[in-house]
Amino acid sequence: MSEQITVQDVAHDAEFPELIEGIRSRRSGHNYDPDEDISDETLEELIRDAAIAPSSYNLQPWEFVAVQDDERLDEVVDIAYGQEHIRDAGTAILVVGHTNAKTADRVFEEWAEAGRMDEETAQQTKAQTAEMYEGDAMGRDYAIRNASLAAQNLMLSAHARGLTATPMIGFDQERIAEFLDLPDDEIPVMLLAVGPSGGDEPERLPRRSVDEILHRETY
Ligand SMILES: Cc1cc2nc3c(=O)[nH]c(=O)nc-3n(C[C@H](O)[C@H](O)[C@H](O)COP(=O)(O)O)c2cc1C
Repeated sequence: MSEQITVQDVAHDAEFPELIEGIRSRRSGHNYDPDEDISDETLEELIRDAAIAPSSYNLQPWEFVAVQDDERLDEVVDIAYGQEHIRDAGTAILVVGHTNAKTADRVFEEWAEAGRMDEETAQQTKAQTAEMYEGDAMGRDYAIRNASLAAQNLMLSAHARGLTATPMIGFDQERIAEFLDLPDDEIPVMLLAVGPSGGDEPERLPRRSVDEILHRETY
């Protein structure tokens, strides 16, 4: 069974009803205004909102590569198997994830400085974290879990600003990593097209119902 989730369902007793309205009305758009682009200030605000996403130990293992140059956008469209809406959007942002805890020195120092961990615990946790993400699979999980949350924040921020955003994994991962010169220990997680809307989107497809997907106590 599926259900159509609408903005009208917003719980009016919510403390932040507009936030819920934003979550429920966000769409992955494909209709962009090709004549309008986002400003530099807006791009920076989107990244600021992405960066406030939660992350494991606040390690913030993400980077954002924005492509706005027309010729380079053409190349991104090609790498994304011809997804033309990227060009119309005017801005493509690759959300990149770290596969190891390379921010750990600085972040665990911040935990200790803030008095949230004593120095010894901070050093121990740093060593454990580095070890935990050493394996290839854990490193990939680390990158994808954390950077995906940042990508969702960015999309919701774009939506709140009246912009359209599309998340995409339909692209050649090796080619995009090479084209954007990613370091060897960082991976492409999500490609986002962001830009002013060009008009209506088709009606949203239904979602699997809560009854179907909510498992209480055990699967
Ligand atoms: C991991 C992931 C990969 C996606 N890849 C693409 C993509 O390559 N191209 C595209 O146009 N949309 C892509 N989408 C968007 C989905 O098609 C869209 O989220 C889904 O149909 C639900 O629509 P809605 O986001 O408007 O509610 C992707 C979404 C996710 C989460």
